[in-house]
Amino acid sequence: MAFRTLDDVEVRGKRVLLRADLNVPVHDGAITDTTRIERVLPTIRELSKKGAKVILLSHFARPKGKVVPEMSLAPVGKRLAELFGHPVSFAKDCVGPDAKSAVDAMKDGDVLLLENTRFHAGEEKNDAEFSKALAANGDIYVDDAFSAAHRAHASTEGVARILPAYAGRLMEAELKALSAALENPKRPVGAVVGGSKISTKLDLIGNMLDRVDVLFIGGAMANTFLSAQGVKVGKSLEEKDMHDTARKITELAQEKGCKLVLPVDAVVAREFKAGAESSVVPVNQVPDDTMILDAGPKTAELIEKHLADLKTLVWNGPLGAFEIEPFDRATVDVARAAAKLTQEGKLLTVAGGGDTVSALRHAGVVDKMSYVSTAGGAFLEWLEGKALPGVEVLRAK
Ligand code: 3PG
Repeated sequence: MAFRTLDDVEVRGKRVLLRADLNVPVHDGAITDTTRIERVLPTIRELSKKGAKVILLSHFARPKGKVVPEMSLAPVGKRLAELFGHPVSFAKDCVGPDAKSAVDAMKDGDVLLLENTRFHAGEEKNDAEFSKALAANGDIYVDDAFSAAHRAHASTEGVARILPAYAGRLMEAELKALSAALENPKRPVGAVVGGSKISTKLDLIGNMLDRVDVLFIGGAMANTFLSAQGVKVGKSLEEKDMHDTARKITELAQEKGCKLVLPVDAVVAREFKAGAESSVVPVNQVPDDTMILDAGPKTAELIEKHLADLKTLVWNGPLGAFEIEPFDRATVDVARAAAKLTQEGKLLTVAGGGDTVSALRHAGVVDKMSYVSTAGGAFLEWLEGKALPGVEVLRAK
């Protein structure tokens, strides 16, 4: 591994600044998903057990450099303590006298959470003085926030330039999984790319064409590809101004020897609502007054057939409007087929990004894939082939 990890450092008695991503989803003030907290627990436990003073740093939401009480990390700290099963103290600032006195009071093995780093404008500016102020409370820096690694902020990048920096166990797992999927994959490799717009995934598709053998296009972006080929897609969501781009991508795929797989049938309905009357049609027979809301069963079968020949699969984006039944069918069926092959040891599956985790959770297969990343933007940028500042800074020099 090209990164220093917790295997390379003695942490006993040290003040360890542990950058986590505790930016958990919240609805009406309640945390709706604790996955990000749970995933960082092994690193916290290991450090605490080894006698480190564990000082957690994280951003939460987007307070834009000001103290916004509703964006305090205090409730997240409470939930963390419950899940950890040990007390976690809290300091109401991440720098300055409040942070210092809380750190000074720590004993070996203690865990402290510092307040939202984004309450200071210096965080997002990656300000050198602010980075120094954060670093003043630590002897070493451990980064477990892959999902925030696309941000060159003080707590994800600046501090790592000041203190000896290491990848935490979650970061390590994430980097291993991602590298196994696209850097040194077992071939053939396939990618499912879904979602509504080609325009937001151009770089990603471009990078996939260079790296994968088969690319399955799903979601509304498939409508744009079909429409660009002259297929009538009725009232379906599509990007008319991306037809040229879609045609270029199709040509490029051919040149590069990457097989592009588009839907061959579709689930259509007149309205987009739960339980709407729907029917399955071949993609070239979409009635004018209907819209495509999911890939059809023949498409799911076709993808599943391809999956059986693959060794590696990367998944980003649902195949249909999975939030509303029955338009979740293709996503659920293909996800379960991929999970089954994974469980049988025949396929390595790495998935991530925004809706993807919800879609896989809906299909009941989050724990059955090889690796599901909780990263949104960072996972996308990684799929685009971009260097992530929070990862680059950890590379062993
Ligand atoms: C995320 O949720 O993707 C990360 O925590 C980054 O959050 P941000 O998009 O507000 O930088």
